[in-house]
Amino acid sequence: MKKVVLISTSLSATSKSASLIQSAAEQLKTAELIDLRQLSIPFCDGRKIEDYSKEIQLLFKTIEEADALVFGFPIYCYSISGVLKNFIDIFSHAMNGKRFGICAAAGSKLSYLAIADLHKIMQFQSNAIGVHPAVVADYTDFENDKPSLDIKERIQRMIAEL
Ligand SMILES: Cc1cc2nc3c(=O)[nH]c(=O)nc-3n(C[C@H](O)[C@H](O)[C@H](O)COP(=O)(O)O)c2cc1C
Repeated sequence: MKKVVLISTSLSATSKSASLIQSAAEQLKTAELIDLRQLSIPFCDGRKIEDYSKEIQLLFKTIEEADALVFGFPIYCYSISGVLKNFIDIFSHAMNGKRFGICAAAGSKLSYLAIADLHKIMQFQSNAIGVHPAVVADYTDFENDKPSLDIKERIQRMIAEL
């Protein structure tokens, strides 16, 4: 059984991408879920991982030991959020060669190409491979704050590709 680590990076209390990640967690059953709303991640300042706190070093190990990752994030300004970029800046060396999936929330799916920025960063920095389909959802894809059946099915296909 592959070990999948889900990383929810939106800091919004009403995050839609967190709801996508929750749905992925329910489908995977054994996945580990990291929710950045519950952690305090500093800005990357270029120091070695050994010089960060024990909590950050443990997180590094969890990511390193994963077979595959799924990133939950908001699309901000036609790209990934600064929070996700900072997370990659600190943990990219733990992500080497892994496959990763995407659960992104947007105001409009017209911004879906923002996910290409994540593919580029992960490929160049970590030699990591993004799987298709990616999940990009806007407000029309949620019913009572839960992902629609169509989106749940897309999450299932994304997981199968991991
Ligand atoms: C600073 C900021 C920039 C945003 N930029 C975009 C954008 O470029 N394209 C888009 O479709 N939505 C944009 N949005 C809307 C968010 O993607 C949308 O609210 C999404 O649900 C946020 O994800 P979350 O609910 O998981 O936090 C932006 C929102 C904020 C706060």
